[in-house]
Amino acid sequence: MSDNNANLTVGGESKDYAIMDGTVGPQVIDVRKLYANTGMFTYDPGFTSTASCESGLTYIDGDEGILLHRGYPIGQLAEQSSFMEVCYLLLNGELPSAKELAEFTTTITRHTMVHEQLTTFYRGFRRDAHPMAIMCGVVGALSAFYHDSTDINDPAQRTIASHRLIAKMPTIAAMAYKYSVGQPFVYPRNDLSYTANFLRMTFSVPAEEYEPDPVIVDAMDKIFILHADHEQNASTSTVRLAGSSGANPFACIAAGIACLWGPAHGGANEAALNMLREIGTVDRIPEYIARAKNKDDPFRLMGFGHRVYKNYDPRATVMQKTAKDVLEKLGVNDPVFDVAKELEKIALNDPYFVEKKLYPNVDFYSGVILSAIGFPTEMFTVLFALARTVGWVAQWNEMISDPAQKIGRPRQLYTGPTQRDYVPVDKR
Ligand code: CMC
Repeated sequence: MSDNNANLTVGGESKDYAIMDGTVGPQVIDVRKLYANTGMFTYDPGFTSTASCESGLTYIDGDEGILLHRGYPIGQLAEQSSFMEVCYLLLNGELPSAKELAEFTTTITRHTMVHEQLTTFYRGFRRDAHPMAIMCGVVGALSAFYHDSTDINDPAQRTIASHRLIAKMPTIAAMAYKYSVGQPFVYPRNDLSYTANFLRMTFSVPAEEYEPDPVIVDAMDKIFILHADHEQNASTSTVRLAGSSGANPFACIAAGIACLWGPAHGGANEAALNMLREIGTVDRIPEYIARAKNKDDPFRLMGFGHRVYKNYDPRATVMQKTAKDVLEKLGVNDPVFDVAKELEKIALNDPYFVEKKLYPNVDFYSGVILSAIGFPTEMFTVLFALARTVGWVAQWNEMISDPAQKIGRPRQLYTGPTQRDYVPVDKR
């Protein structure tokens, strides 16, 4: 709590509202008593000025382009850490010792198999179903399979549910892919790392051995780290809101997946690559820049702009370098990467984008890498969901453990009709 208060005068009456301090970042005004004091609500569609919770997980300074997980810069984590280590960090608050990391990795590895009955669940979907549709359904269905980890008041059950979700998500995601291409599901293998295992479950076939390429494993692990958590974004807020009613963790994460799917959020990686492919060649870029600037055209440059970042998204910096490394090492010459780099250059020098502080975000380059690895565009958002699961469960756990937690229940400014009398149908 700060020594200062914010003083608000409504109808001639002044009241003080406490100003709260975080460890870093803007202070917040505690308006919880506002309605009781004034009979008024605050109005903030899209929560542009509203802190919905306290959180010790992730910090973003959007003006400076800084992203910290538990205090550690994302660039350092992406370059020096592993996804398993970042999962441990997000869940537990500190980097693990070697022993803790080994134990945690073993625990996650031992939870990667899914209930065999779940495999039949997939067969209810059309083969051409979008894999995110399958993810929403299958992850929600986990609550029907793992009854022993749905009691949210039991910390041990919460831990098991968290481990299960992180561990099973690659299996579920790979199965969604296999189902769409008509290949048999591949069981996880405990001698492989989290990421290598996922690649094998996705790309191997029973007919021959599959050796995960270390370059691809490393790039994929970085992509997972870059997507692991991102403060109170739309899907995380959805998970928290769903969880605030006491819903079980599998249902909450399914809600998060549904929210992530939208093109303004996680669906942007799929939309960004589709857009780059549609542009096709560097000479067509001006046409698309003009469309993005035209107020009468709903087109937006996908993978550009962010609610919080008004500077280069630090994840995009790592992503661009990873894209270059992967394409070079795989010997892939995808013209889409040239289009992406040129589009970035032109946009960053265009007054429209400069004035509105629109920079490439995490989704701008990720599609180039994922496509080079061999994923179809429909799988891109699934990979985002896979990686973000740790952030969702860590935020969900933080919320449940917070004594100040209440059911999320925003208010509204009502603009509909005032009370009127019902008119029978024959009199209308
Ligand atoms: N292309 C062209 N103009 C844009 C873009 C863009 N990509 N993004 C924002 N603008 C303009 C927008 O038209 C508005 O102009 P004006 O003030 O004249 O009306 C101004 O910039 C502010 O935009 P906004 O929609 O009010 O900003 P927001 O904070 O509500 O939206 C956003 C943020 C990410 C939804 C938006 O920038 C966008 O739609 N970007 C494209 C989709 C995208 O890449 N999403 C991924 C975000 S990062 C990963 C994730 O969160 O999942």
